[in-house]
Amino acid sequence: TPRRSLIIANWKLNGGIDLMCNSIASLVGKEFDTDIAVCPPYIYIRDMLSLLHHSEVKIGSQNVSKFESGAYTGETSAEMLKKVGCSLCLIGHSERRQMFRENNISCNIKVKNALTHGLIPVLCIGENLEEKDAGITKDIIFRQLDEGLNAIDTTTGELCVAYEPIWAIGTGKSAVPDEAQSVHKFIRECITEKFGNDFAQRTRILYGGSVSRENACELLDKADIDGLLVGGASLDPAHFLQICTQC
Ligand code: G3H
Repeated sequence: TPRRSLIIANWKLNGGIDLMCNSIASLVGKEFDTDIAVCPPYIYIRDMLSLLHHSEVKIGSQNVSKFESGAYTGETSAEMLKKVGCSLCLIGHSERRQMFRENNISCNIKVKNALTHGLIPVLCIGENLEEKDAGITKDIIFRQLDEGLNAIDTTTGELCVAYEPIWAIGTGKSAVPDEAQSVHKFIRECITEKFGNDFAQRTRILYGGSVSRENACELLDKADIDGLLVGGASLDPAHFLQICTQC
């Protein structure tokens, strides 16, 4: 594929100074055939950026505000993230949708904010187990994309989509590669229909959900799987490095 793979570590609410130092040590000075990014908790972003100086490794945030500035206690804007040196931001992770009332509408605002300020939005989508069992995965995905990407500007910047079936997150039960590929193909078709083939071919579609060094290569081998969003396995720097280098 013409798309360079992108592998993202999402630490969620984990880690500390030790994890930060150990992962920097394991990632700096290495050359990768894929793009690599780490999304630590906000508090570590600036230190990581300065420690990663001159490295190819990118830093992203796990969320972004839907507001630009003002009286919004606890928020961090896309502009601030960009100015400090972030390259991307996760948007609408299922944990945020489930526990922090994120929905397709708020995700849409966040995607637009990220694009406006030159951050790559990584829009996270995916069905839960009940939806999968009811056979409505594609309806859920279609709607998440249709609303989440409504009226975005596709003339500048880059978009990533992360397909994370909720039943596969943190369960050790990854989607089988063929099953993931068929959803990824559908995602690309939805993006093609909405924004045209050029944009769809440029958009990287990542898979997330119990990715490990055991299944990473087989997933990345699939035509429409352009990268990985790694949770648990990214908390072990050696394990994450293996995922980044072995395929
Ligand atoms: O953002 C990462 C995903 O939620 C996957 O987490 O690799 O621990 O299943 P996991």
